[in-house]
Amino acid sequence: MKKSIMLIAALCMTSVMTFAQKVIRVSTDKTDLVMKVSPKGRLYQVYLGDKLLNPSDYDNLKWDVYAASDGAVCQRGHEVYATSGAEDFFEPAVAATHADGNMTTYLYYKSSEQKPVDGGTETVITLQDKVYPFTVKLHYVAYAKENVIKAWSEISHNEKSPVTLWRYSSTMLYFKSSKYFLTNYHSDWAKEGQPETTQLSTGKKIIDTKLGTRAAMQAEPFFELGFDEPAKENEGKVMLGTIGWPGNFRFTFEVDNVGALRVIPAINPYASDYKLKAGEVFTTPEFIFAMSNNGMGEASRNLHNWARQYQVNMGMDDRLTLLNNWENTGFDFNQQSLAELMKDAKDLGVDMFLLDDGWFANKYPRKDDHAGLGDWEATKSKLPEGIPGLVRDAKKAGVKFGIWIEPEMGNWKASELYDKHPDWFLQNTGVEPVQQRGGTQARLDLCNPKVQDFVVGVVDRLMTDCPELAYIKWDDNAITANYGSTYLGSDRQSQIYTGYHLALRKVLERIRAKYPDLVIQGCASGGGRVNYGLLPYFDEFWTSDNTDALQRVYIQWGTSQFFPANAMAAHVSAAPNHQTQRTIPLKFRFDVAEAGRLGIEMRPSDFTTKQLAFAQQAVEDYKRLRPVIQLGDLYRLLSPYEQGGVAASHMYVSADKGKAVVYAYKLKHFVGHTVPPIRMQGLDPNRSYRIKELNKVGNSITADGKLISGKVLMEAGLALALDNEYASRMVELTAE
Ligand code: GLA
Repeated sequence: MKKSIMLIAALCMTSVMTFAQKVIRVSTDKTDLVMKVSPKGRLYQVYLGDKLLNPSDYDNLKWDVYAASDGAVCQRGHEVYATSGAEDFFEPAVAATHADGNMTTYLYYKSSEQKPVDGGTETVITLQDKVYPFTVKLHYVAYAKENVIKAWSEISHNEKSPVTLWRYSSTMLYFKSSKYFLTNYHSDWAKEGQPETTQLSTGKKIIDTKLGTRAAMQAEPFFELGFDEPAKENEGKVMLGTIGWPGNFRFTFEVDNVGALRVIPAINPYASDYKLKAGEVFTTPEFIFAMSNNGMGEASRNLHNWARQYQVNMGMDDRLTLLNNWENTGFDFNQQSLAELMKDAKDLGVDMFLLDDGWFANKYPRKDDHAGLGDWEATKSKLPEGIPGLVRDAKKAGVKFGIWIEPEMGNWKASELYDKHPDWFLQNTGVEPVQQRGGTQARLDLCNPKVQDFVVGVVDRLMTDCPELAYIKWDDNAITANYGSTYLGSDRQSQIYTGYHLALRKVLERIRAKYPDLVIQGCASGGGRVNYGLLPYFDEFWTSDNTDALQRVYIQWGTSQFFPANAMAAHVSAAPNHQTQRTIPLKFRFDVAEAGRLGIEMRPSDFTTKQLAFAQQAVEDYKRLRPVIQLGDLYRLLSPYEQGGVAASHMYVSADKGKAVVYAYKLKHFVGHTVPPIRMQGLDPNRSYRIKELNKVGNSITADGKLISGKVLMEAGLALALDNEYASRMVELTAE
């Protein structure tokens, strides 16, 4: 008896020893995340930062031990996925109430493997509790060249009855630095992506949303961290992070008693206890991050390169230019007026005509935004030949055709959908729903599989009737205000927020499987769904409902920190702008919209002859330069938030450095506010570049037509003469 106990003990020792030597590296070309198994079999982060150089570097890394409850090593340290109820008294990564009611979990290392995946290496680490059959699989994919890592977790169990999860984070990362500066992005409708920097002090800072079905608005699901000093554009150690989850998210930044920072990106657990059945796998969203020692600019470029190649649907393709009728007709159009607009679109030179809201519903016709949502049949009085008639007209005009839908919504008591299926709407028993969008707009209960089929069916029917449909604008204009599902039983109401998005993912997967080449734009009252969790299914997003070119400079500046230009739709709207009443020159409006995926909201017949000629040339130049603008490397040259906020400037450079497009905007105009020559970045110092000013109105820049070396452009800069109010410049550089 004694012998066998000793034998078992010896075997355990061996496995503990083996595990204790286990080092797991998640590495890109420039970053190392290193984890080690402790003698007690727990997994600790021992390093996250600059790539290490020698094998001995890894040997010398140790887990920190802050409190040894039994005098032994490794009680509280940087446990990779800290649990609730164990020795870590700070915010946990995972917390569960087990089937027997116990709320404590201890995770021990079980195994790990690494395998190549598209563009990177995936590491999967399995952790297990010893008392409960409760398992967590940690996933990391490291994209070596792009220096991007994404991480997520899978939680499952085999307990006798459901386990309630009340914390379920994507990952957990630790940093050690003298100071931490967080730049988070606050936001609102028509005011997306506004940066704010604060120093993190001891305790917690939480950035989260509770809007249900949109991550952005109020707080954006992305942030920057500056180590030792606030994150800067071209120098210093920084980390950029974002969560791929378009619903409620929560970023927790906690500085502990010894000054270490833990970052916990997660679905917001607010009102979201998740009852996990035995055998079911709960998969968290991906947390995507990039670290750099050369500031935010490099980290952004890395994220953009990664996103285009591996995350955004058809991300390596450049995007179509388009004319959208929303800001020029609103709901007031018919088949004939649309046919005229399609001809105008062709005349303007854009690739596509996009029909926005207002084309559907018969019993409750969509005359304004108060009725008809959910009834996806063309309004006969407006469009007698339906959508097929419009697709035919577009073909005749020589442009592609795209259409707006908002399939996750319906009008409560103002749609046939409601008449037939009132139970398909999220609702609180006995309570009138919260009025949204000035009317009766309400959200469908996507947890219900019948609703999922309905939503897939909206796209399916359009594509079956009109196989040539090239583009869908998928909108989502309300938050989740009527929290209650007639489909989920009384014991699963707390799964609405999370279940909604798991269902949305399923719906989009079904659509993508059938229509891989259909271009789909994600929109949610503008930029409410600017999120990498949706970009595997969407090709681009509507950056903001705010099309005032001045405010767009700031919105696009913030959004571009994380998202590439070919995902950011930017449109030229009429003057004065319908939201700000500001009149901004057409040139400035084009120069701003041409920094993203260009579209036009104006009615072309409102252009003067001169303006039309200008717009036609601008569209032609944009289309010619589309590969550089949409797929090139972004260098932000002058921040609208620095140097008094007088001007902003950025440029895109092609991968071979042969072409670049530079943008500059005057934002404030006071006497004495001059803008010095702007120093270019990312060019080849040994080549010379021909300077060609685009969208010219009035005086040209003095360098127009000249040949200047990359070295001079980068060291001495290019004088862009931003002399007047709303002065702007767009310049093409071509290496000769
Ligand atoms: C939202 C979108 C707009 C437009 C309207 C239509 O507000 O963001 O671009 O499509 O809906 O109702």
